[in-house]
Amino acid sequence: MSFLTLHRLAPKLLNSKVRRREPHDNLKDVLADLIPKEQTRIKNFKQQYGKTNIGQITVDMVYGGMRGMKGLVYETSVLDPEEGIRFRGYSIPECQKLLPKAPGGEEPLPEGLFWLLITGQIPTEEQVNWVSKEWAKRAALPSHVVTMLDNFPTNLHPMSQFSAAITALNSESSFARAYSEGVHKSKYWEVREDLQTITKGPWSGKTVTCVSCNFLLMMLFFNTSDHEGGNVSAHTSHLVGSALSDPYLSFSAAMNGLAGPLHGLANQEVLVWLTALQKELGGEVSDERMRDYIWNTLKSGRVVPGYGHAVLRKTDPRYTCQREFALKHLPNDPMFKLVAQLYKIVPNVLLEQGKAKNPWPNVDAHSGVLLQYYGMTEMNYYTVLFGVSRALGVLAQLVWSRALGFPLERPKSMSTEGLMGLVGTKSG
Ligand SMILES: CC(C)(COP(=O)(O)OP(=O)(O)OC[C@H]1O[C@@H](n2cnc3c(N)ncnc32)[C@H](O)[C@@H]1OP(=O)(O)O)[C@@H](O)C(=O)NCCC(=O)NCCS
Repeated sequence: MSFLTLHRLAPKLLNSKVRRREPHDNLKDVLADLIPKEQTRIKNFKQQYGKTNIGQITVDMVYGGMRGMKGLVYETSVLDPEEGIRFRGYSIPECQKLLPKAPGGEEPLPEGLFWLLITGQIPTEEQVNWVSKEWAKRAALPSHVVTMLDNFPTNLHPMSQFSAAITALNSESSFARAYSEGVHKSKYWEVREDLQTITKGPWSGKTVTCVSCNFLLMMLFFNTSDHEGGNVSAHTSHLVGSALSDPYLSFSAAMNGLAGPLHGLANQEVLVWLTALQKELGGEVSDERMRDYIWNTLKSGRVVPGYGHAVLRKTDPRYTCQREFALKHLPNDPMFKLVAQLYKIVPNVLLEQGKAKNPWPNVDAHSGVLLQYYGMTEMNYYTVLFGVSRALGVLAQLVWSRALGFPLERPKSMSTEGLMGLVGTKSG
């Protein structure tokens, strides 16, 4: 219900027996309402079903990077192998429709997405404005972090600089300070000042003047903010956070995972690979020559970056969303044409090779081309943008992990000898 409707209905509501409350604009007040309810709901659920079996673990799963093992609770988003991501139950098109946009803008604001991720509710414009103001207030970096960044050599990868800077921001952690002063564990979630981790990204406090860039940044933001809890970066922040390391330390650990080429660095890898392809094959490339190029990549023991996924089994809807954007705004861009041509060819080659469980493109197959079109040609910064966006999801979850009192994460590891013993074979 909008504030205007509420205003018109006010006299009626005041006279009715049940007096409805206006939504809070302040995130902390909203969470203070939600958290006790959720704590009770989960307590009851655990009491009733705590011993219920929810799956089987096979030896393949243990050797296979724990694929498909249900092993952690992560509230902010869920990834369906066929359909793709849903943020608190909302698909990407639903979020695009429902979340507040900037005046004249066509894509949701990151602040609104953050509100949705953390509360599970679609925010009002007032709530989004509240988040914007809070973020802007906390955008400044302490001088020791600026000095450290200035002193890094230029050949240090931006992701390493980013991660180091976030780690060094731990000097500002209200959580670490409150913990050392003996704050009660039921209050951990309230020490949310560290959420300023989000606000200290490169965009904070700056006015993005180019409308298309603004639009594009919002879209990229939206596409990489959260992808459930088991991916390398989300899981890392969850794991490190479970030791009660403060949000800066948890998030910087996540960024070190994101910097890997099989995870977030893939968006840079795609551009490097595309540029090399263009250099070797020239502008207009026949399908046949492109096929050979892809096969050469595979035969040399490398992956085709931007294709495949550990969970998804269809084209990533985040890829589709960016493709639609490109079809509308840059249909004749040579790099986009190359990406579109690859979409026709790579899946068939991967299927023919018969190894990848998912031959379809993921988000990284597209994002770099859009960034490059709008003038961001420094490829090694692409993963930093992804990282800034991921802060929304992993830090929203961290608040809930604290509120729900999640314990130290400590799965059981096995030696091969032990596993063989468990299944009753002596073949080792
Ligand atoms: C994302 C990724 C790491 C998922 O890995 P996974 O869950 O192990 O994927 P699969 O189970 O399908 O892998 C089975 C085999 O297919 C291979 N494979 C998967 N995707 C491939 C790709 N894009 N190109 C070539 N080979 C691929 C794997 O390397 C593996 O080979 P192996 O048996 O020799 O070890 C993988 O698809 C990949 O490396 N993609 C390219 C990098 C990328 O785009 N990352 C961003 C992900 S959002």
